[in-house]
Amino acid sequence: MTESNKPSAAQRRSSSRLLASTAVFLKPYLTQITVASIALIFTSALTLGLVQYVRLIVDKGFVEGSTESLNTAIIGFLVVAILQAFGTFARFYWVSWLGERVTADIRKAVYKHIINLHPSYFEENLSGEIQSRITTDTTLIQSVIGSSASIALRNLLMMIGGVLFLFITNPKLTSVVLICIPLVIGPIMFFGRKVRRLSRDSQDEIANVGAYVGESIQQIKTVQAYNQQQHNDNMFSRYVETAFEVAKDRIFMRSVLITLVMTLVFGALAVMIWVGGQDVISGRMSAGELTAFVAYAVIVATAVGAISQVISELQRAAGAMERLIELLEAESLIQSPEQATRLVGEFRGQLDFEAVSFSYPSRPNTNALDDVTLSLRPGESLALVGPSGAGKSTLLDLVLRFYDPKSGRVTLDGVDIRELTPEALRSHIAIVSQQPALFTGSVIDNIRFGKPEANLEEVRAAAESAFASEFIELLPEGYDSYLGEGGVRLSGGQRQRLAIARAILNDPEILLLDEATSALDAESERKVQLALEKLMAGRTSLVIAHRLSTIVNVDRIAVLEQGRLIATGTHKTLLEDCELYANLAQLQFGEA
Ligand SMILES: Nc1ncnc2c1ncn2[C@@H]1O[C@H](COP(=O)(O)OP(=O)(O)OP(=O)(O)O)[C@@H](O)[C@H]1O
Ligand SMILES: [Mg+2]
Repeated sequence: MTESNKPSAAQRRSSSRLLASTAVFLKPYLTQITVASIALIFTSALTLGLVQYVRLIVDKGFVEGSTESLNTAIIGFLVVAILQAFGTFARFYWVSWLGERVTADIRKAVYKHIINLHPSYFEENLSGEIQSRITTDTTLIQSVIGSSASIALRNLLMMIGGVLFLFITNPKLTSVVLICIPLVIGPIMFFGRKVRRLSRDSQDEIANVGAYVGESIQQIKTVQAYNQQQHNDNMFSRYVETAFEVAKDRIFMRSVLITLVMTLVFGALAVMIWVGGQDVISGRMSAGELTAFVAYAVIVATAVGAISQVISELQRAAGAMERLIELLEAESLIQSPEQATRLVGEFRGQLDFEAVSFSYPSRPNTNALDDVTLSLRPGESLALVGPSGAGKSTLLDLVLRFYDPKSGRVTLDGVDIRELTPEALRSHIAIVSQQPALFTGSVIDNIRFGKPEANLEEVRAAAESAFASEFIELLPEGYDSYLGEGGVRLSGGQRQRLAIARAILNDPEILLLDEATSALDAESERKVQLALEKLMAGRTSLVIAHRLSTIVNVDRIAVLEQGRLIATGTHKTLLEDCELYANLAQLQFGEA
């Protein structure tokens, strides 16, 4: 259905594509990259140059015993050292800046992308996992761009420059170095690739850990009510241990890699000093030259060592980038049309379902809605009734275009809603859903969620109409009271009234109410019912209610059963025509 998240698919992604995707994020900062690169090249060159002064200090100062030459050499050394300091500052600052900047951009891009994805994407992809990608995976990338990449580059320059100077100093000795380089690079490539794969697995495991924590904390009361702390603890331990096992494999590979490289490098170094030492003894080479040679060899060796460490770091980040790209490339099933139709003239609010059939992506073989044809005139209120699971909420979801029908179409003022942009469509609609959704924040922020520019007066008026002001004013800080995550500090009925106030403030032409008053006691329900009726007046309203008492005043009632529309009419006509409705009414009112 949607894109697959299997690692196997991602692993086929070539490194060049990864680089290309990363380059997109680097492109806006070419100036900063140039400055950082210049500083990088500059400082590397200076370090290499510094060794030449060391050679002079040894040969002229120590061996020849000339104080004057020693002084000039020291001054030169100091000047280079000071320049080095400036260069290092620029390099460090700009490279770290780039790391932070690019990470911020990637985070923003990923969030902006996923917040627009079709809702069913989040049925397949756990929110905790996505969170982990945006936080931990981007942190890896930050460490790479903000340090590892520059370490790698600086050491690469040092390695190349070092080898070059080695050649100048003593070509014979250098051949020893050159023989060793492929010996060292080979294992780096081989183990590096393994590290990248393991790193990806490791990050996946960490994401699972995060997802598990998130869910069990959200459902903490249920977990404790059923005494499942121990069980959850065991489950969690298992996730953590799996993450550890994968990490263990990864660090083992890394350790092998580093050990191998270090051994090879120091082995080569020993050979060089032995060969060079014999040249100094026999007078073919000066002591300063050997010092410089060994210094360059150490620089090259450290550089290779650093690169081999950083390479696995780079591979880890490549694993992280793969996962982020997967998120960025996930395509929304709900797309804006290329050429969106604009609703011209006065918006009327005619809502039609024309032979709409729909099945959820995860259950393609059962129709949640089956050939539903239903028409709402502008300003008409229609109630949907029917047993649980009949497809009532699903019908509302189709109006908001959270899903598209499998066949048939939904039209607004005669225009297929797929021809409108989702924003345009949704700007005419307000919904109070079955589980009133509140956000972390204050009462006022929650009420003006759909209309952030609303002022306190408007918010108050909306709360008044929803009979919410009576409890809001009793809260410790009134409209500024903080509600906790998902509104945990309110009762179910209070949450519902806030959700209604939000819809009232939004002042939509089309109103969708899904069991909007189910959590209210009889007294508040009656009041809220009055408010809703006032709100519904003049608006096209689609109302779902289990309690028939709450819908007796709507214009028409439609009865759904197992996704099929089996009857429409008024309370009176349905009592006679529709057995299902008559049974419901009998149960609730005792009417025959
Ligand atoms: N995200 C989903 N994925 C798969 N199937 C779903 C999904 N949401 C709902 N369904 C199924 O679709 C059918 C219709 O669900 P829907 O939520 O529309 O029922 P409803 O009429 O609103 O019921 P209730 O009165 O209990 O709220 C049910 O069989 C339900 O199991
Ligand atoms: Mg429902």
